[in-house]
Amino acid sequence: MQAGNTTRNYGWVTRSFHWTIAILILTGMAIGLYAETLPSSTDSDIAQLFTTYSVHKTIGIAVLVLAVLRILWAITQPRPAPLHPNRRAETLLGETVHWALYCGMIIMPLSGWLRHSSAPGEFARIVWPFGQRLPGMPVDEIVSAAFSAIHKTSWLVLAALILLHVAGALKHALIDRDATLSRMGGRSTDLPEPPAGPHLPAFAAPLLALAIWAVAISLALGIGGEDDAPATAPVEQAQSAAPAEATAATEPASEAQPVAEATGPLWAVQQGNLGITVVQGNSPVTGQFADWDAEITYDPDTQTGQVSLSIPLESLSLGSVTSTALGPDFMKAGDHPISTFEADIRAEADGHIAEGTMTLAGAEAPVTLPFDLQIESDTATMTGQTALDRRDFDVGAGYADESTVGFTVTVDVDLTATRQ
Ligand code: HEM
Ligand code: HEM
Repeated sequence: MQAGNTTRNYGWVTRSFHWTIAILILTGMAIGLYAETLPSSTDSDIAQLFTTYSVHKTIGIAVLVLAVLRILWAITQPRPAPLHPNRRAETLLGETVHWALYCGMIIMPLSGWLRHSSAPGEFARIVWPFGQRLPGMPVDEIVSAAFSAIHKTSWLVLAALILLHVAGALKHALIDRDATLSRMGGRSTDLPEPPAGPHLPAFAAPLLALAIWAVAISLALGIGGEDDAPATAPVEQAQSAAPAEATAATEPASEAQPVAEATGPLWAVQQGNLGITVVQGNSPVTGQFADWDAEITYDPDTQTGQVSLSIPLESLSLGSVTSTALGPDFMKAGDHPISTFEADIRAEADGHIAEGTMTLAGAEAPVTLPFDLQIESDTATMTGQTALDRRDFDVGAGYADESTVGFTVTVDVDLTATRQ
């Protein structure tokens, strides 16, 4: 059996590439679609989701590696000539589909890998010894959503191409009864030279194939939109995470209003950040509340005051696990949309503490927030951090150990306020 192609027949190397990649693509596609149907509510659901996506991604990367090798091999090889060169439209269609399939073999796994590489709050791991994320990729929700949209549109295009391709192969086998299928199948050995005929312009099929993918990717980016990102990424919602970039400073919801029993001067927050970090799997996931409201009184002479913090939970952005974090298993934002923290401020050791009560998810627990305070004329800058135990608020009760989500939630706050 010859290794290389001739103008009459495919060699075993091309055939092996063809059938191995075909089987892997079809299996990967089926597993990707199956994974999308899996639930992600309990620990064992999530473990199954992890495993399923790991298998999916690993098969996909295998396709990518084999496709690159296949293309390098194909460049060095003659291609068996069409058996009916006079049927110009049919030949052009067949060739275009072949070129488009070659593109698809790269675009499909690459878009998946780029989605995986840029996803905050990701991921089911690729089972292989090299790096997980493509070097140089930004970890960014919007970039990741764009690749997700490309990945999800690409499989439809690839599936349509495969259907056309298989229909063509079957037509050759059943209607034309020619050697097209058997020369890829490997049974024909002594094939006659295909008849001579008109040549298609060399760039026609490759250009058409590129046009198909250009249209598909443009549609994906146009249609995909940002809404797609968190809601349609169950895998990323349920998986271990890499740190998301802490985003730009956010404006508190509204100007501070006087507290009824205010003691000391009132301070109005000018800008600030309120962030949380949770550990999923072994990696931290960091997020921000875009909207919150703090009413602060503080007397620099007595170093005492009060704070009343109100946080609309829906303003949380926690990478692609946002909706899971807000859902009924965790913060229950539907039933308890606002979390509050009412505390007294006093000096302690070489800093300050705010000691009081936090309400979250319908539960209440004491919380102490140590913070540093700098006051220059009428501007105060504070930075603080505290650690909450999610079990105190019955958050994530279904996740009774730390294998999926850690018990500790770190809260970071920094703000600048001016004296009124
Ligand atoms: C031959 C290669 C591949 C094929 C045919 C394929 C196919 C699919 C399909 C059919 C889905 C379901 C899409 C939907 O429900 O609309 C999917 C989802 C997904 N695939 Fe792939 N895939 C491939 C490679 C990869 C690779 C290499 C990765 C990552 C390293 C990957 C990551 C994902 C992820 C994360 C999802 C979930 C959807 C999302 O969050 O964007 N895929 N894939
Ligand atoms: C995921 C699936 C598949 C992919 C990505 C794929 C891809 C390709 C590509 C790129 C070629 C062109 C090879 C070349 O000349 O360089 C080809 C040829 C061929 N494929 Fe597939 N294929 C797939 C599945 C199938 C299946 C399921 C069949 C059979 C029913 C099939 C039958 C053929 C045949 C007969 C040829 C030779 C065509 C000719 O000589 O003109 N392929 N395939």
